[in-house]
Amino acid sequence: MELKDKKVLITGGSAGIGKALIKELLTHGVKDFAVIGRSQDKLNALKDEFKDADFILVSADISRLEAIERLVKEVSKTWDHIDLLINNAGVVSADPLQDMTDEDLVNQININLTGLILLTKKALPLLLKSEDAGLMNMSSGLGYIAKPFYSVYAATKAGVRHFSEAMRRELIFENIHVMTIYPTATDTDMMTSARVDRMDSPELVAQKSIEGLLNKEINVILGGEQRIKDIATNFNHPLEIDKSVRENYEAYKERTKEHRAM
Ligand SMILES: NC(=O)c1ccc[n+]([C@@H]2O[C@H](COP(=O)([O-])OP(=O)(O)OC[C@H]3O[C@@H](n4cnc5c(N)ncnc54)[C@H](OP(=O)(O)O)[C@@H]3O)[C@@H](O)[C@H]2O)c1
Repeated sequence: MELKDKKVLITGGSAGIGKALIKELLTHGVKDFAVIGRSQDKLNALKDEFKDADFILVSADISRLEAIERLVKEVSKTWDHIDLLINNAGVVSADPLQDMTDEDLVNQININLTGLILLTKKALPLLLKSEDAGLMNMSSGLGYIAKPFYSVYAATKAGVRHFSEAMRRELIFENIHVMTIYPTATDTDMMTSARVDRMDSPELVAQKSIEGLLNKEINVILGGEQRIKDIATNFNHPLEIDKSVRENYEAYKERTKEHRAM
């Protein structure tokens, strides 16, 4: 895929991994970005930070149907097609299930999964107009290996993984490369309230994601060889992962108890 002059619609491009993706795409000659995020201030800051880019900025909540329809309408006023849709916006709330507020439970599903699927549906006609399109969905390492206290978040991210796989097969005869990204802990605002020792940089995640897009990879899994081994263990011998959870249960609980970025 040649990225120069592509038109990119990205959700959650105003911070963290999404912003790093914009920065990375600019180095590949992309200039046109449509970005949705809730905070207008964070969106406006993109214009100051990336002066060479042309932005369509929509301040709205991706979990709301009318926001998605407004976004697609705004985009189609200026562009006649979309080359790359990056479904990146996401939130997290860690808690034992019975302690999680109903609001956090529902909002994680609506933002991370329902919004992502709805936007894909509504943007698909514009993506299909591109001669060489990409659909990049942001899952998480927890989309492959579920961990305690992330039951809802992990369910949304496994949902993203499966949605991607189904869409890749559904669009098999179309010019749309469908791929999924699985970051591990990454140093962004989302992780400020989590207690994690080592994190990837958002720039690394962005670089690997775009490299994967250019190489037409279907899954970009961060976290190195150990992560690949752990995924295989979780598939073939899930009780080995359970054993490690049993041994480290209190530590998991401690590390995640404040983790919330909604
Ligand atoms: N950081 C990690 O360790 C990690 C690991 C694995 C996967 N991920 C995934 O990577 C993606 C990006 O995460 P990040 O770490 O970059 O998060 P982040 O720094 O918190 O940024 C999230 C972005 O999404 C936007 N956003 C959040 N809720 C939204 C909503 N309802 N409607 C529209 N925009 C919304 C935010 O802008 P506003 O707040 O202004 O709306 C922001 O631009 C997420 O899907 C996350 O689940 C992250």
